[in-house]
Amino acid sequence: MKILYISENPEDTEHLLRLFKAHFPKVQVVVVKDEKASIDALTIDGPFGVLMIDVTLRLSDPSLLAEKLTDLSGSRPIVFFGPRSFVESRVKDVIYQSHDANQLLYRPYDGLEFKQKLEIAIKWTKTEDFEQSVLEVNREDFLPIKIKNFYLYDSIPYEAFLDIGNEKFVKVLAKNKKYTQAFLRQYVQKDVKNFYLYKDETIRFLESAILMINEKIERVLTLSTLTDYHDSNFNHKALIDLQIGGARLLQQVIKTIGVLDSVKRLTNNLIATSMHLFDRTKDLTRILAAFPYKDKDLAVHAILTNYMCLEIIESIGWDSKTTRDKLGLASIIHDTFISNDKMAAIYVLDDPALKDFTEEEQEEFKNHPIKGANLVNYYSGYSDVDFIISQHHENPHGKGFPNHVSSLKVTTFAAVFILANRFACLFLSPWRGISVHKIMKNAIKKLVVDFNVGNYKDPLKALEKCVEKIF
Ligand SMILES: [Fe+2]
Repeated sequence: MKILYISENPEDTEHLLRLFKAHFPKVQVVVVKDEKASIDALTIDGPFGVLMIDVTLRLSDPSLLAEKLTDLSGSRPIVFFGPRSFVESRVKDVIYQSHDANQLLYRPYDGLEFKQKLEIAIKWTKTEDFEQSVLEVNREDFLPIKIKNFYLYDSIPYEAFLDIGNEKFVKVLAKNKKYTQAFLRQYVQKDVKNFYLYKDETIRFLESAILMINEKIERVLTLSTLTDYHDSNFNHKALIDLQIGGARLLQQVIKTIGVLDSVKRLTNNLIATSMHLFDRTKDLTRILAAFPYKDKDLAVHAILTNYMCLEIIESIGWDSKTTRDKLGLASIIHDTFISNDKMAAIYVLDDPALKDFTEEEQEEFKNHPIKGANLVNYYSGYSDVDFIISQHHENPHGKGFPNHVSSLKVTTFAAVFILANRFACLFLSPWRGISVHKIMKNAIKKLVVDFNVGNYKDPLKALEKCVEKIF
């Protein structure tokens, strides 16, 4: 059993650790000094049966911290400790009473009192739900789901688990219990990528999510033609967020289950939504401004690439429905077989940043253009899209991969796609404190350096025109 102990006072810590050694030698106490470290420990080193909070913490309010930590990890006993005057002024009654086994421990610490109070708290972890929350499992019974896919709901009818290593999983979401996006974000920020569900439940979760997004998008697509997309109140962001959520889910379902009929329906719906919003808005700046600057991932890149393709082909005058559909499909599925979202910023195999990823991720990256291209076989009526996807990491002067295609041999379709994709990547990179317009100009400037050659020339000109017409 582990206890999370938060205090910046070394003398109290030393004294209390001695009491633990004497009375509870089997308990493991993880000592941290502040709120940030306690949240890190809770999400990565947990589960903890009991939390101990020093009431003299300078930078945190002990009651608020207790609330935050139990929000994050579920209800469990908290022992507040420190001088009586601090306990009385800084521990709110409502917090103290929020759990039957909560305790107040006053300085100077008495060994007997310490033992009695800690015993009550520790006993709770043995009798209640807590012990059941840590499972020793057969990993094969579980499937991972990207945490961001849980953004689609605020509660789920299943339990979700976090992999804490050594074949151990800890419950992070209880059945039908509400959770917040802020709760999920804590894990994403710690670079935790997946929660796990039991295999059958994973499939049910993904199928029901895909159905929900399909229905939502279909409602939007049948919106009355009277809806004014130029109106300042029209919520572009909500629609783009829906598309991004859909693309994220689609990539996950393809990898976990395969290309189901509902996946094909979702693909068509996502492509149709881009055209729908693009045709009615006719305003690239508003579309770009609706993209999230934080929390960027492969799904955000995919949807932005789709809008940039629409811009470029309209400017060239190639915007038939078939061409739009083809570039739409390429945009949505081209990076499906990359697992790590941070790889969206890497284009060539000699990029030194590639070494920062695991060997498995590097291998995935090398193979993803061809694996992605093979996916097109599952869709009918999309000839040429496999070429676009297989060539999407080609680069002028034969510096790309997998085939080192030169700028004269790259297909024009692929050239449009590559430029749209690169623009999306540059647009989404971390530019600090400058306007959308400036970001666009900077992105074009960078692209001109490499791409003003061969079959890239015309689409590059078209892209420049799209950006220029805004100014
Ligand atoms: Fe890619």
